[in-house]
Amino acid sequence: MLSPDSAAIVRATLPVIAGAIQDITARFYDTMFADNPELLRDLFNRGNQANGEQRVALAGSIAAFATVLVERPGVLPGTMLSRIANKHASLGVTEEQYAVVHKYLFGAIVEELGDAVTPEVAEAWDEVYWLMAETLIGLERGLYREAGRGWTRATVVERREETADTVSFLLRPDLPMPFLPGQYVSVRVPLPDGARQIRQYSLSNSPERGDWRITVKRVRGEGAPEGEVSTWLYEHVRAGDVLSVSAPFGDLTLPEGDGPLLLASAGIGVTPILSMLDHLLATGSQRRVVVVHADRSPGAHVHREELAELVAALPGATLHRWYEDLPPAQARDAANGAGHATAVGRADMSAIDLPGDVVACLCGPLPFMRAVRAQLVELGVPDSGIHYEVFGPDLWLAAA
Ligand SMILES: Cc1cc2nc3c(=O)[nH]c(=O)nc-3n(C[C@H](O)[C@H](O)[C@H](O)COP(=O)(O)OP(=O)(O)OC[C@H]3O[C@@H](n4cnc5c(N)ncnc54)[C@H](O)[C@@H]3O)c2cc1C
Ligand code: HEM
Repeated sequence: MLSPDSAAIVRATLPVIAGAIQDITARFYDTMFADNPELLRDLFNRGNQANGEQRVALAGSIAAFATVLVERPGVLPGTMLSRIANKHASLGVTEEQYAVVHKYLFGAIVEELGDAVTPEVAEAWDEVYWLMAETLIGLERGLYREAGRGWTRATVVERREETADTVSFLLRPDLPMPFLPGQYVSVRVPLPDGARQIRQYSLSNSPERGDWRITVKRVRGEGAPEGEVSTWLYEHVRAGDVLSVSAPFGDLTLPEGDGPLLLASAGIGVTPILSMLDHLLATGSQRRVVVVHADRSPGAHVHREELAELVAALPGATLHRWYEDLPPAQARDAANGAGHATAVGRADMSAIDLPGDVVACLCGPLPFMRAVRAQLVELGVPDSGIHYEVFGPDLWLAAA
């Protein structure tokens, strides 16, 4: 908790800091990377730096944390902190690095706000930073203790072309490591300019299978640069190659218990959902599971047959698919058997018979998840029953 004096100062200065936070974080990153270029080259996602997305996520999380501290003393935004800690742990962030971030962040605050940063204001925001940092460090310590830290070699035992733009890799890590369905690993690749960039990929099969599978969608430039790591994996990696991977992390995991589930994905967001379904099958689950998937077209839908097969094999599961572009012949055959429905357009939760106590896991582009969440809330599903994974910096955090 913040001390009462600091809380009063933070409350009074939150609008000034929040108003300038974009400029503060821009200066923070620019100065930190100028003095520590290896952080941009080998740790931070330089694609996100170039398109500005990570800046928004970090800025938003600090403002959100300070707001919770002053408005609801004694309550910590657990979901947000857990998500950040899992991401940090998958990247191998160290305790010492928090002092580095602190130095450049506070340097940037002083530079941007000038005289408004009196010693009392600096001290109060210092307290906010270290409260957040120490909570994250504690969570990360726990994650490292449980899952391990650093990089492991994983041999590619199979490469499969899935759709025109996606490829899956079956990986055998040197050290067998358990994971929960829905978790991801970080993959670190050597790029032609000498950088080693890191990205996260969800494990798309069940833990019971032993080997890990990741499914990678190559990010096409479409006016912007091609995705660096996904393109590298797509173009370079073959069976027999060795990848550098982290232990599995992530907190969008299959909700425990026997209650009904809604597993909703769009596009490549299907990967953690496949792992959950594969696990339910491997454990003989009778659970009621409503599976929703939205995609551009059946041809673009990666693991389309596998998803249908998993649902067909699970006694309590039904599948609802929406395609923006569905050829007329397929639209005619759309109602293709019990438990399966295919429709044209965007996913529509009001068309599904959802149990009242359903718990939802969403994964896909933000507009898809926002639309599904809004519909679920309208249908009476509480916010606490809606979990999600974002395949990039979590801009929901910024809005939290
Ligand atoms: C928890 C989690 C799980 C994930 N699971 C999966 C998964 O199962 N499968 C999967 O395929 N992906 C997954 N992802 C996404 C994955 O981690 C990568 O983000 C994705 O592969 C793109 O990385 P990249 O290096 O190819 O693109 P990047 O090089 O990071 O580029 C990202 C975007 O930035 C744009 N960009 C780059 N430079 C500039 C510039 N100078 N100006 C403007 N725009 C620019 C690019 O055009 C691109 O649109 C997951 C992400 C997370 C966080
Ligand atoms: C209190 C201090 C910190 C806060 C509030 C913070 C906050 C965040 C947030 C909100 C994200 C995005 C998470 C997501 O959307 O998944 C993130 C990611 C990240 N953080 Fe931190 N962080 C802190 C400290 C650090 C430190 C010390 C380092 C190491 C130098 C670090 C390195 C990273 C990296 C590399 C990413 C991923 C970037 C990307 O993929 O673009 N962070 N952090």
